Amino acid sequence: MKLLVTGGAGFIGSHVVRRFINAYPEYSIWNLDALTYAGNLENLSDIEHQPNYQFIKGDITDKEFISSLFEKEQFDGVIHLAAESHVDRSISGPDAFIQTNVVGTANLLNAAVQCWKGNFDGKRFYHVSTDEVFGSLGPEGKFNESTAYDPRSPYSASKASSDHLVRAYHHTYGLPIVISNCSNNYGSHHFPEKLIPLIINNIKNSRPLPVYGKGENIRDWLWVEDHARAIDLIYHQGNNGETYCIGGNNEWKNIDVVRLLCKLMDEKLGRAAGESEKLISYVTDRPGHDARYAIDATKLKTALGWEPTQPFEQLLAQTIDWYLANEEWLEHVTSGNYRSYYEKQYTR
Ligand code: NAD
Ligand code: TYD
Repeated sequence: MKLLVTGGAGFIGSHVVRRFINAYPEYSIWNLDALTYAGNLENLSDIEHQPNYQFIKGDITDKEFISSLFEKEQFDGVIHLAAESHVDRSISGPDAFIQTNVVGTANLLNAAVQCWKGNFDGKRFYHVSTDEVFGSLGPEGKFNESTAYDPRSPYSASKASSDHLVRAYHHTYGLPIVISNCSNNYGSHHFPEKLIPLIINNIKNSRPLPVYGKGENIRDWLWVEDHARAIDLIYHQGNNGETYCIGGNNEWKNIDVVRLLCKLMDEKLGRAAGESEKLISYVTDRPGHDARYAIDATKLKTALGWEPTQPFEQLLAQTIDWYLANEEWLEHVTSGNYRSYYEKQYTR
């Protein structure tokens, strides 16, 4: 089994690569990543010397490169995670999202169809997507596999577009595909532009904790290793052409997540109770801010026996410990470009 993972140097991709490297020593795992600001080979330093691991630096928007890579390497399967992934960046600069998420996905699909030439035995194209394609929920109900698409940010619209392309290639060319739409992940190696690692980093440095609007938007948080476990199951046992929703069954208002992080970090940093909460700063809301995401993962439980790990508080504490123990990682990713991004995003 020669498996191409795209975006393997990013947050979720690195957990997927690590899981597959360790669980399937007989597979050959190829990690293709452009190493954008979000890609970091330090995320994989523990497995980079494994004999079943190969890294290729490359950009999925480069059509010629992608098609010749497939011709040369003859992959058996693809797990596609490479993407521009941050909503706020998609608002200030949507073009990169359209290029990577839409055009890049189309390049991979075309290359797979060309390379496999109608002989799809043992082949699979797994597209990793997000619950954000479904739009914004009110207080009731959850997203499931039959929820209509209603993306509302350039990020979610570009992911929705890629999902449609993947399904179209299945119906039109017979490409064997699976898609999953997952809720918000948290865990180690998460780039500190996203809520949880950004708040951890700011609490650590006693910087203001930016909460958009009133902090009442709700997200359904899933432990990243649970996501990687679901991807493993779906890649191996999911039905051809089907979609699976993955979620944490763990809804939290943003302000409550921030308060919990403050409480846990006050304890860990030996600060007085309530000290970090004083850093909370309500800032201008995100335009088009989706109110609530929540996933009904019944299909995945019934079909493949997957359930999320609990409890949130314990895994969040473990996540904080990882950031506190990996100062060098944090320093590397928050130097340089991160500073100018941060100034632009939060000084308005
Ligand atoms: P990330 O931003 O941490 O990592 C993305 C990776 O893709 C980086 O390593 C980056 O270098 C690489 N990349 C970007 N553009 C590329 C290009 N043109 N060519 C090759 N590589 C490129 O993202 P993540 O949070 O790990 O998300 C991974 C996937 O999971 C994405 O498709 C995202 O839509 C999806 N997803 C994320 C979440 C979440 O909570 N983070 C939830 C559900 C689904
Ligand atoms: P984020 O981690 O960017 O994920 P997504 O927007 O893809 O769900 O944001 C999670 C929630 O936290 C979202 O409702 C926006 C909010 N948020 C803040 O309040 N402040 C911040 O600085 C960031 C980055 C996000």
